[in-house]
Amino acid sequence: MNNLTADQTKPQYHPQVFDPHDMTDAKQISLPDYPAESEGPKSSERWEKETKFLVEKMLTELNLAPGQWVLDYGCGAGRIAKALCEKKLFVIGVELTENMRKYAIEYVNDPQRFICVSPEMFAELVNTGLRVDAACSVWCVHHCPDPDQVYRAIRGGMKFNAKFFNVNNRKTRVIPTMGTEFRWIEDEINIWRIADAYFGLCNTIIFPPDLDPKERFIIRTYMRTIVPEAKD
Ligand SMILES: C[S@@+](CC[C@H](N)C(=O)[O-])C[C@H]1O[C@@H](n2cnc3c(N)ncnc32)[C@H](O)[C@@H]1O
Repeated sequence: MNNLTADQTKPQYHPQVFDPHDMTDAKQISLPDYPAESEGPKSSERWEKETKFLVEKMLTELNLAPGQWVLDYGCGAGRIAKALCEKKLFVIGVELTENMRKYAIEYVNDPQRFICVSPEMFAELVNTGLRVDAACSVWCVHHCPDPDQVYRAIRGGMKFNAKFFNVNNRKTRVIPTMGTEFRWIEDEINIWRIADAYFGLCNTIIFPPDLDPKERFIIRTYMRTIVPEAKD
């Protein structure tokens, strides 16, 4: 981030906010209350309704069929991964923090279909040939200080022509920072323009108003195709 410097009094990227201490915390970090406080659904309502909405869209947009491998990048406590495993898909979750990986494995509770790895291990698996049939990333990239690097990692792990389902804020990034106090910093870096450098855009989907009354969110689906900037 431009406004992050080595000066400790200035805000520094603070990924520790994604490190849960129990399952309740893991779920709350994965899907907090709607950001506009009382004007939107609470975490538990989002967990139930939004998960169903997203997974239904994902199944059709990504043409998912039982037995395929799906990447869930920034899987959190495994909310989406669990629903995909119930549809008889295999899921590889990638997750930043060790504790969140532990709770994801516990929550999904399907060792036959779900594995959860660090970004570093995912990169190693891709280096040795892993390519998934489809990918998703829900509420992750807009929390990342280097979206370029995340999109490159996702693209690298997808088969050619595989599709990618991405959910973020419409306009802003929201980065966790610690300076003199903890703060989420919103900035205007255009995540979607960065995504366009790695994938071909297929569709844009708007959330229903009961899940997103302030029209803050958006879903885009992409394809891993030939994109000049991606430099394969
Ligand atoms: C808001 S949560 C969303 C969790 C899940 N996708 C869901 O929708 O329920 C964002 C998750 O992304 C993870 N994350 C953030 N940056 C990441 C990165 N660079 N690589 C992998 N995971 C990351 C966080 O640890 C956190 O669990």
